[in-house]
Amino acid sequence: MKADLIIKNIDNLITLKGPNRPRVKEEMEDIGLIKNGIVATRGDRIVYVGKGELPEDIERHEETIIIDGKGKTLTPGLVDSHTHLVHGGSREHELAMKLKGATYLEILEAGGGIHNTVKETRRASFNELYEKAKKSLDIMLSFGITTVEAKSGYGLDDFDTEIKQMEVAKKLNEDHPVDVVSTFMAAHAIPPKYKDNPRAFMDLIIDEMIPYVAKKRLAQFNDVFCEKGVFTIDETRDILLAGMEHGLLPKVHADEIEPLGGAEMAAEIGCISAEHLVAASDRGIRMMAERGVIATLLPATSFNLQTGKFARARRMIEEGVAVALATDYNPGSCPTENIQLVMSLASIIMKLTPEEVITAVTINGAAALKLEDEIGSIEVGKKADLVIFDAPNLDYIIYHFGINHTDKVIKAGKIAFEKHNNIL
Ligand code: NIG
Ligand code: FE
Repeated sequence: MKADLIIKNIDNLITLKGPNRPRVKEEMEDIGLIKNGIVATRGDRIVYVGKGELPEDIERHEETIIIDGKGKTLTPGLVDSHTHLVHGGSREHELAMKLKGATYLEILEAGGGIHNTVKETRRASFNELYEKAKKSLDIMLSFGITTVEAKSGYGLDDFDTEIKQMEVAKKLNEDHPVDVVSTFMAAHAIPPKYKDNPRAFMDLIIDEMIPYVAKKRLAQFNDVFCEKGVFTIDETRDILLAGMEHGLLPKVHADEIEPLGGAEMAAEIGCISAEHLVAASDRGIRMMAERGVIATLLPATSFNLQTGKFARARRMIEEGVAVALATDYNPGSCPTENIQLVMSLASIIMKLTPEEVITAVTINGAAALKLEDEIGSIEVGKKADLVIFDAPNLDYIIYHFGINHTDKVIKAGKIAFEKHNNIL
């Protein structure tokens, strides 16, 4: 067989080889490290993974690209399994409010926060949303992200805006090298006109929006912001169950700020993932482990909310919950696309080991998007999504924090990003 791309002499080839399912407990430490590794790809697939030289049956052709991996670390493409990618405007004015002590929920309650972005997103044209999100996708790609989840949720009861967001995500998935997986999340805040009657908004979501989104295949997942002052546990359950009836897989923003029992509910109905979980209870964590619900943790959000409270990742791993890490990129609680910073925060603050961290942003993130058979590890037959880090080992990427370590990003077998040192 002839290879199109060969990366050889890789100091640290981190394969994540193992079962195509979320990794738990000590499995999260087992990153399938190969020293002096070599990887070959053909078309969009990985055709060889090993050590030293290629076997004879893998040949070069005239245009085969050969990359030297000396001094480099290679990982699977990173999976950002929780973002609010498509939105209008920005909310830098909230910084001063937060510095004066206003909390995220106070700003939301006062009609700011998500409601502010809803106004901007309604106002923005398809093209404006597309160009803004494309810019973010470019940044994400440059940080090594090859697959991203994108939630709607800045239209709320304005269904056209919800659809506009999902259509933008769909078009970007077609046009941009990064794969975009769509999640429907109209249940992101209670629109002011439904403040005293949230059930009427839920009826709209359940009876009109969900059937339409499912029929038009605009999203694969369904998500709800289950939080004090937003959707209650019972309301969240109803919306997620309604989505399941139409084939939308349930995810949930759970126990982000107040311990409402979102983790328990996620386990009870079998969510694919529960996300945030900063205030998740011991019982909720145990139930998630038993039911196999992935915990998607978002430490950059905790950092930016200035609460000093982070999800109990160590406890979750000890109890057997599969942990994924994501940026939560959005204009309010987490305006960053830098997943490498998230990786450092997860390690430095949440005390995950570098091995657990890389598992959380590859195979476990892939599993949170139901893509574990396609991506998330470097194995023959999987999609050739690869990141070459200009770093001698994994620890170095986490330790030298806040900067971008990528040298090249390969998406579906093609070089999609390359670092240039254009210092003039
Ligand atoms: O995941 N918590 C709710 N949703 C987002 C924030 C969205 C926003 O503030 O615009 C989150 O943090
Ligand atoms: Fe979120």
